[in-house]
Amino acid sequence: MGVDADAATSTQDEICAEMAALRAGYERRGSDTEPETQPRLDYPPYRSSLLRHPTKDLHHADPETIELEAPVFGQRDVGALEADLTIQQGGEPLGERMIVTGRVLDGDGRPVRRQLVEIWQANAAGRYIHQRDQHPAPIDPNFTGSGRCLTGEDGSYLFTTIKPGPYPWKNHRNAWRPAHIHFSLFGTDFTQRMVTQMYFPGDPLFALDPIYQSILEPAARDRLVAAYDHGVTRPEWCTGYRWDVVLTGSHATWTEPDDGGVA
Ligand SMILES: [Fe+2]
Repeated sequence: MGVDADAATSTQDEICAEMAALRAGYERRGSDTEPETQPRLDYPPYRSSLLRHPTKDLHHADPETIELEAPVFGQRDVGALEADLTIQQGGEPLGERMIVTGRVLDGDGRPVRRQLVEIWQANAAGRYIHQRDQHPAPIDPNFTGSGRCLTGEDGSYLFTTIKPGPYPWKNHRNAWRPAHIHFSLFGTDFTQRMVTQMYFPGDPLFALDPIYQSILEPAARDRLVAAYDHGVTRPEWCTGYRWDVVLTGSHATWTEPDDGGVA
């Protein structure tokens, strides 16, 4: 029996019990132990990662060799309109229009300038335009769910988009992901690229989600959650959220290891 078949038989209650046990074990750790601010790679409640999470030590590769094969982009290729996901298809997408903005900072709080920031997300109904997403929620013909921009001189980025909906996935029976936006920060070349996810405050699915919960330290999980910011909203037009990304240091935003990504 494959892992997918096994996973589908687990209930949400069983996943929650496993997550609670892991959390309790983490809370019993010694006071001299460093907080776990990165996700556990071996986190059994995240069933679909069991056979694909890294089990060996990372090995350094020659970055120059990788750069010969890796995608490249030119800063001049990034158009200003690509940061607005609501104007790409000639019609208005459905859902809550919102601005998502923030700054990309290094560990000392300095702005990281002229960085390529890419996002991708589900539509308001929780549906991706992707052949692997066939769950019965409507595709929005006016929303493809991807955009990009460059950070400004102050490290800031700004996207206009639609608030994504939660969506089901096949980690276990009746599994739902909290609403989220995927972020990629390219760095100055492909070997620096980092990928993470931004969430929305107060999501009732946080406690149920083994991807979010695979980060054991609560403060590190909280850093993935944007803040509603009324100063970002536009009258009669859109709501607004603020989310900063810190690349290094003790307040670094968690980023995904380069192992093929998550749901
Ligand atoms: Fe997703």
